[in-house]
Amino acid sequence: ERQKNIRNFSIVAHIDHGKSTIADRILELTHTVTAREMQDQLLDSMELERERGITIKMNSVELHYDAEDGETYIFHLIDTPGHVDFQYEVSRALAAGEGAVLVVDAAQGVEAQTLSNVYLALDNDLEIVPLINKIDLPAAQPEVVREEIEDVIGIDASEAVLASAKQGIGIQELLEQVVKTVPAPDGELDAPLKALIFDSAYDPYRGVVLTVRVREGVVKVGDKIKMMHSGAEYEVTEVGVNSPKPVAREFLGAGDVGYITASIKDIKSTQSGDTITLANNPASEPLEGYRQMTPMVYSGLYPTDNAKFTDLREALEKLQLNDAALEFEPETSQALGFGFRTGFLGLLHMDVIQERLEREFDLDLITTAPSVTYHVTKTDGEQVDVSNPAEMPEVSAIRYIEEPYVHASIMVPNDYVGTVMELAQRKRGEFDTMDYIDAARVNVKYYMPLSEIIFDFFDKLKSGTRGYASLDYEPAGYRQSDLVTIDILLNSQKIDALSFIVHRDFAAERGRIITGKLKNIIPRQNFEIPVQAAIGAKIIARTNIKAYRKDVTSKIHTGDPDRRAKLLDKQKRGKARMKSVGTVDVPQEAFMAVLKTD
Ligand code: GTP
Repeated sequence: ERQKNIRNFSIVAHIDHGKSTIADRILELTHTVTAREMQDQLLDSMELERERGITIKMNSVELHYDAEDGETYIFHLIDTPGHVDFQYEVSRALAAGEGAVLVVDAAQGVEAQTLSNVYLALDNDLEIVPLINKIDLPAAQPEVVREEIEDVIGIDASEAVLASAKQGIGIQELLEQVVKTVPAPDGELDAPLKALIFDSAYDPYRGVVLTVRVREGVVKVGDKIKMMHSGAEYEVTEVGVNSPKPVAREFLGAGDVGYITASIKDIKSTQSGDTITLANNPASEPLEGYRQMTPMVYSGLYPTDNAKFTDLREALEKLQLNDAALEFEPETSQALGFGFRTGFLGLLHMDVIQERLEREFDLDLITTAPSVTYHVTKTDGEQVDVSNPAEMPEVSAIRYIEEPYVHASIMVPNDYVGTVMELAQRKRGEFDTMDYIDAARVNVKYYMPLSEIIFDFFDKLKSGTRGYASLDYEPAGYRQSDLVTIDILLNSQKIDALSFIVHRDFAAERGRIITGKLKNIIPRQNFEIPVQAAIGAKIIARTNIKAYRKDVTSKIHTGDPDRRAKLLDKQKRGKARMKSVGTVDVPQEAFMAVLKTD
C-alpha cells in the first residue's frame, strides 16, 4: 500500500561536516530542483543562514527517488542544524522520521555533537545510516573514522557510505541504503487523525503554517481540526508538502510529512509538540510531545527607541512561534527603560535572535550582557531565581547562592590536552574523566559553571587548540558558589543594565578589565566621566574617560573618500545603537564588554 514506498529521515552531523551540502546533492540527484534553481545550501533559506554558512532552522522537503529495485520512493528529508545551541531543533526533526543519516567528516572524525546527535537519534529509536563525507580531502582517513564510529559510538559502520558531497560521490549509494535501512512509516489511514506539529512559521498571507508528521488518519481541506493540548479549533484551508516550494495536496495521510494552514492568527494556540486531531472524530490520546526546553542564558532586550516596545513584543511573539526555546517577559531598567528579559539556549541563539529582530522586523536594539539563572536563598529562608544581575538581593539579605553547572565533553587531539585542562581549571572546572577516542585524540570531561562557559570559554578553547577542539555540554544541576554582584557606575550613577555576577576570586580582576574596556568604548564627552566598579558600597576599580578636546571626526579626514564614507556610515549606524543613560551615551558594545575576560 501507499506507505511502503515512503521514507522519512533526517540528516545529522557535527557542525560543518557537510549535511547541507549532502542535502543539496540529494536534491540534484532526484531532480527535485532544476539546475537553474539550484544554489548552494538550498535548504538554508534564511538570509542569515546563507551569510554565515550555518543551518539554524530545520527544513523539510519531499522528493522522489527512482531506486535500483525499479520502484519510486517518496523521501521526506529533514535537514537539521549542527550547533549545540540548536539541539532542540534536531530533536524535533528526529521525532518526525524513522531514520537518520549520520554524517562524519573523514578528516575530523567523530566530534562532540556527532555523539550528542547519535544519542538523540537512538532515543527516538531511529535506524542510523552512517556516512563518511569529504573523502576527497588529502587529510581524509575514512578507515580510521570508520573504526571511530564503531568504537566511540558503538554502531556498525562496516557498510558506512564513503562520500564526497563536494564531488557528488556516494550520494546514490546513500539513497539506496536509506531505502533498505530506514523502515517505511506505519499508522492506520482510517484511524482518528493524530499529527505531530514539529515546526511552525508565521506567514503574513496564510497565517500560521504548521509543519506536521501525520502518525494516524488523514487530514484534508475543510476538515475541522483541534489542537489537543491548547484545545483551539480551526478549519483547514490548505495541506501540502514542501518540494522545496510549497505544493498543495488533496490530503496528508499517515506516514506523510507536510504542512497545514488554517487561517490561524493566534500564535499561542499552536505550539510545536502539540497533536492535531479532528474536532468531530478526535483521537483519544495525544502523541508524546517534546520536552519543554529551558533557556540556559537570559539577557535584556531593549528598543533604542522606547516607542518601539510594542513592536518588539509582536516581533518576539512571531519568532517564538518559529522557535520554541525562546522565552521572554517584560522588564524595566532604570537605564534602558522598557524591554524584555529574554531566555536563550546559548550565545549563538541569542545572537541569531537579535539579528533576526533587527533584520526581519527592522528594530534597533540594545542587548544587555547574558546571565545564567541563579538560585538565591535569602536569610529569611525565601528562595528566588535571579536571571537579571540588577535584581540580585542585597548582600546582607543573602544566605547563599547556587549557580548552574554543566557536564562538558571536550574532544581534542592529545597534543592539546594540557592546554584544555589548564583552561578548564582556570574556568573553575572540576575534572571528571578522560577517554581515548583513537590513538591521537581524547575526550576530556569536566564539571563547569555554565557562566564560565558563556564568558569566553569556547573562543579560548578554539584558539588554544588551533580550532581542533569540539565542545558539547549538558546541564548538571546547581552548586553553591561564592558569588558577588559587580555594579558599574558612570559619572557616579549606578547603571543597572551593566551589573554582572562573578565568583569572588575573579571580582577584582574583572572589575579592572571591565572599567578599562568601558573607558575605551564609551565616547568622550565635554566633561570627564568617572567609570567605577563596585561591590555594594565598596569601589573595587576606577578609571576616567577624559573630556574631549577636538572634533573626533578630524581623525577620518585622512585616507581615501571611500573609506571615509564607510567610517561615517559606521558611525551613523553606531549612533542608532546608542542609549543615553543619564548624562552619558552608552553604545551597544559596552553591554557586551563583560563577555570578554581579558
Ligand atoms: P551546518 O549546517 O552549519 O551545521 O553545517 P553543515 O554540516 O550543513 O555543513 P555544510 O554542508 O555547510 O558544509 C560545510 C563546509 O564543508 C562547506 O564549506 C562545504 O563546501 C564543505 N564540504 C561539504 N562536503 C564536502 C566534501 O565532500 N568535500 C570537501 N572537500 N568539502 C566539503
